[in-house]
Amino acid sequence: MREYQVRAHSNGPARASVAWLNFFAPRMGEYTVPNSPGFQALNMTSPVVANNLPKRVHLEAGKAYFFCVCGRSATQPFCDGSHKDTDLKPLRFTVEESGDFWLCCCKHTENRPFCDGHHNQFTPADVGQERAL
Ligand code: FES
Repeated sequence: MREYQVRAHSNGPARASVAWLNFFAPRMGEYTVPNSPGFQALNMTSPVVANNLPKRVHLEAGKAYFFCVCGRSATQPFCDGSHKDTDLKPLRFTVEESGDFWLCCCKHTENRPFCDGHHNQFTPADVGQERAL
């Protein structure tokens, strides 16, 4: 996984969106992000690795659930409102059939809210830490 760190002019380290950096970083070498509101808006919050394993939960068909995307919720894998100081929002989802499902707790799956194995890149030392997507 590629992780980029860029420097703001006066407010210390700042993270830029991965999509933005994937496009520009190979073209620019080292770059300094201007400390302007427009550039600050590009600084996305990274999710916290809530756990390096998925959680098996029973879900009811047709019922709306809110999956925690920020990783800061105390009621994993569901939202408890802890995202309010981030730019991440919970994912509302339903399932078509009731049953047990493995939901992502590392917050790096590419098949939200379900586990897709991306947690294998994390160790227990990553739990509770922000990790760039
Ligand atoms: S727990 Fe996130 S991909 Fe498995």
